[in-house]
Amino acid sequence: MNFRSLPSIRCLLAVGCLWATLPAGAASFSGEIGDGAALFLPEGIAPDKLPTSVALVETPKVRGPLPAGWPLKPQFSQTEGKSRVTLAVPAGTSLYGEGEVTGPLLRNGTDTVLWNTDNGGYTRDRGRRLYQSHPWIMGVRPDGRAFGFLADTTFHAEIKTTDVLIDFVSDGPAFPVIIVEQSSPQEVMRSLGKLIGTMPLPPRWALGYHQCRYSYEPDARVRQIADEFRARRIPCDVIWMDIDYMDGYRIFTFDPKKFPEPAATNGYLHEHGFHSVWMIDPGAKLEKGYPVFDSGTENDVWIKAANGDGPFVGKVWPGECVFPDFTRPETRAWWAGLYKDFIGKGVDGVWNDMNEPAVFDVPDATMDTGARHRGGDGLPPDTEARYHNVFGMLEVRASREGIQAANPDKRPFVLSRSGYLGSQRYAATWTGDDVSSWEHLKVSIPMSLSLGLAGQPMSGPDCGGFQQSATPELWAHWVAVDAFFPFCRGHSDKGTPGKEPWMFGEETETVARTALERRYRLLPYLYTLFHESSEDGMPVMRPVFFADPKDANLRREEQAFLVGGDLLVIPKWAKQPQVPEKWVHVTLVEGEDGAPNNEYQAEVRLRPGSVVPLGEIVQNTNAESFAPLTLLVCPDEKGDAQGMLYEDEGDGYGYRSGDYALTTYRAHREGDEEVVAIERTAGERKLAGRPTVVRVVTTGGTHEAKATDGGGTIRVKM
Ligand code: GLC
Repeated sequence: MNFRSLPSIRCLLAVGCLWATLPAGAASFSGEIGDGAALFLPEGIAPDKLPTSVALVETPKVRGPLPAGWPLKPQFSQTEGKSRVTLAVPAGTSLYGEGEVTGPLLRNGTDTVLWNTDNGGYTRDRGRRLYQSHPWIMGVRPDGRAFGFLADTTFHAEIKTTDVLIDFVSDGPAFPVIIVEQSSPQEVMRSLGKLIGTMPLPPRWALGYHQCRYSYEPDARVRQIADEFRARRIPCDVIWMDIDYMDGYRIFTFDPKKFPEPAATNGYLHEHGFHSVWMIDPGAKLEKGYPVFDSGTENDVWIKAANGDGPFVGKVWPGECVFPDFTRPETRAWWAGLYKDFIGKGVDGVWNDMNEPAVFDVPDATMDTGARHRGGDGLPPDTEARYHNVFGMLEVRASREGIQAANPDKRPFVLSRSGYLGSQRYAATWTGDDVSSWEHLKVSIPMSLSLGLAGQPMSGPDCGGFQQSATPELWAHWVAVDAFFPFCRGHSDKGTPGKEPWMFGEETETVARTALERRYRLLPYLYTLFHESSEDGMPVMRPVFFADPKDANLRREEQAFLVGGDLLVIPKWAKQPQVPEKWVHVTLVEGEDGAPNNEYQAEVRLRPGSVVPLGEIVQNTNAESFAPLTLLVCPDEKGDAQGMLYEDEGDGYGYRSGDYALTTYRAHREGDEEVVAIERTAGERKLAGRPTVVRVVTTGGTHEAKATDGGGTIRVKM
């Protein structure tokens, strides 16, 4: 047989050989897609036929050829059925991102597996595989210029980094890569925000302190916990209902004995200034006669087993369960519809847990990779191997839609344990089942920082540690730092001693009260940061090197962190933290530096040149906390300072039609006076002239003036 005359066979053989090992090659296509980003495609993907992306908000549109001199070009290859992309990293680059990883913050020389896994009690090593997957890395060059690397694949992958290479190997087919080039890490985050979307502005109550336990039961216990917070005057906004409220762990049910009147329980919480969050897991009990199972079966929503036409069945809390196929738009609509009655009972927020999905008593703790999803809306029918990492993200997308439809005038709040690049569009997250240990307290900081650098601005650990018992000392140190995290929730495992702030004795209770009062005073600043993040994707909690991306000394710092651009938090236990010079120590609440706080409260410093708005100490965010307002003014060497405040109704969507106020504060020095000009920058919300305290903070001391803010200037004698 003459091979030359059979081009198709030759071609097939060639493809077979290439599949075995193909030398790394340049992209078959590259082009500029705007916002400093470029698209690179391997053989086999055409720019006008890009696969539907779960991470990206829209299909990239090529605007032109790659700009001349574009520095970073990925290399693509196929090896033994795996798709590999490598990126040569410029000398001296610091790598960050990768989402939920157990530290270190600096990702050079690390190995991360992207395969969402229920990995409770994780350690630095076992944590290579956690609940979430973020195929994204940011690199910061020695001169502070930065880049981003986004691998648009949902398949199982491993990322290995050295100082000179990013090596990304996926078990799936070849995939597009996006490279972002920007002048700073902040600009890279803004580009990422455009690519994968941002977190919509959360309701203000979600920024308060949350109290959780596995589980508060029965309903009387929930009321008791709420009462205790108010009686002890420890600020708190939210009480959480873990799985034991359900009837035999059947989702969308309430235990008839323990929670016979959920609407009344929610009503009680609301009357006392609390909101409620209730858990919903993805697995539905396989049981004829259970309405969720019956209606799901009738609507043919379940993920199918690898073989045969039946559903995939796996054990979770209720025993044998079936799982919705969230890749199908019809299933998402069905799931969204389940929330109508549930939210109708006065539920304010939803906690979607176990959504890796976790499956008990199987070797890999999850669904079999052959389980079949049917797809839709551009997502092809395929197995769990393709959709595993986005199961949770697609679930919270449907949850959010359902909650929004059930309560159109409120902003949904969803907490998700699993996640993928882009899941901040639908839900906040926490770092899963940590342990009451110093190691977990310390690693919680780089974990939330790395999530922030991968686009998820709202995260935090289970304060005090979920598993095992905490000592009073550990819990006090933990809450002192946790009070500055974007998401601040105490939680504890079944069978452990309670970890409410008063459970460790009077000293720890005082420390917790002060720490949370500090958080509540910062609410105007925090809310402004969440507003900013919703607009441009900037993280709320930021690594210290953001203060000066050129300063090599700051690149590894993962004990201290920034809240926004202006506030530096240094935990009491931090050893030789590398922080920017000249930032100024500031006090947030009276008595924070008296006993026993002295030993625990984190140090807070302000950036010279900043204005940070503080509210009053309130017990919950329903109370008017923005009046009187205190402006912490920290002038730079020239006497200048600037800051902003965003405010609105705190919930709902009035802000979208102008019912908000964005105020700019600009301070400068005139002789022996610091003059603060107050200007409305945007928004039509009416603000009554409010009492305002201006506190000018310098290394030499503080100077104060009080006035009523009528939109003019306030002068402070120095
Ligand atoms: C999982 C969650 C934990 C929750 C428990 C019971 O372990 O991570 O937060 O309390 O399930 O629902």
